[in-house]
Amino acid sequence: MPPRTTCWDLEPHTSAKHLILRRYLQAWLPIMTRWNGRVLYIDGFAGPGIYRTGEEGSPIIALKEAIHHTAQIRSQVVFLFIEADPARLEVLKQQIATLQVPSNFKVQCLLGRFDEHLTQVLDFVKEQKRNLAPTFAFVDPFGFSHTPFSLIKRLMQNDKCEVLITFMYEAINRFLSHPDQPANYDSLFGCQDWREASSVEDPQARKKFVHDLYLRQLQVSAAVTYVRSFEMIDPGNRTEYFLFFGTKSYDAVKKMKEAMWKADESGRFQFADTTDMNQSLLFGTTPDFNDLKSRIVSKFRGSQVTVDDVERFVVIETPYRETHFKQQVLKLMESATPPELRIITRTGQNRRGTFPSGTVIEVL
Ligand SMILES: C[S@@+](CC[C@H](N)C(=O)[O-])C[C@H]1O[C@@H](n2cnc3c(N)ncnc32)[C@H](O)[C@@H]1O
Repeated sequence: MPPRTTCWDLEPHTSAKHLILRRYLQAWLPIMTRWNGRVLYIDGFAGPGIYRTGEEGSPIIALKEAIHHTAQIRSQVVFLFIEADPARLEVLKQQIATLQVPSNFKVQCLLGRFDEHLTQVLDFVKEQKRNLAPTFAFVDPFGFSHTPFSLIKRLMQNDKCEVLITFMYEAINRFLSHPDQPANYDSLFGCQDWREASSVEDPQARKKFVHDLYLRQLQVSAAVTYVRSFEMIDPGNRTEYFLFFGTKSYDAVKKMKEAMWKADESGRFQFADTTDMNQSLLFGTTPDFNDLKSRIVSKFRGSQVTVDDVERFVVIETPYRETHFKQQVLKLMESATPPELRIITRTGQNRRGTFPSGTVIEVL
């Protein structure tokens, strides 16, 4: 049950999310503000900005990241914090009042529902025949109502928009057969296919069905170029939620994966990359380079490819990072006896064990 009090205890699975948000914003803010005079940060389910024992909530985390960023941010950053509960919004305003917000940051605390406010913002931009500023939207509800897929789709039709959605699997799964809920599920998924989920008896298969349906809706119906999903697993091995990240930017995928690989070091929770539920992988402190090697070999064996193609494969189709494959995999394959890869052309100084961009390899 969602808490009824204005502030509540910070759960470990929430602090995991905050770590990821913080790390990702550290990367997003300087990149986006370098090339754009104005960017927008939306926290659609903002909360009070503080937990019961004083920890920061997501709006304060975002604001502080921007205020204290080492790269001085000169562009205008507009923060839209939307919160439906008046008492929580009041506490959030008090929290913000304690910060020294620079004059190029504009903070708006909006009382009401995420879907209503975001619709107004998008309608306004449309009426003005303008483009929405590059936007990062954090959609972090307690449950699953009032997060219509149609709105996420509309948001993502704008260039340079990114979204991080907490997909509350536990709650979603629990009410699948509830007679009062069909309209909410139709809205959440943007289609009626979820109805098949309640007849999937095996819990893992059902989880995969529900996850894959939402992933497919983002990829196909909303045409989001890159969608990645991450599963938050609690110490009892239960799925607390999935995080779905959607972007049109390849570099953003790299940054989000960096945030994920760094986030899971406390041991109080585990994150898994679940973009492909058949090949999901727990983030640990050390990547499993043997697994990465076998994924690269099965994809490219017998073909000649550039290392840039291999990098795109690693970043987009595996849970691993662009920093994981050259020294730890390709170099060992080149020096293996017999060699497991052959250099066709190497750019740069042609030093063994190096794989500059443009280098062509054959996976043997
Ligand atoms: C999970 S909490 C948000 C926590 C916050 N994002 C954080 O990480 O610190 C969800 C918040 O959304 C608010 N809320 C519930 N329904 C809402 C809606 N339709 N629109 C906006 N806020 C809503 C709740 O009052 C609650 O404060």
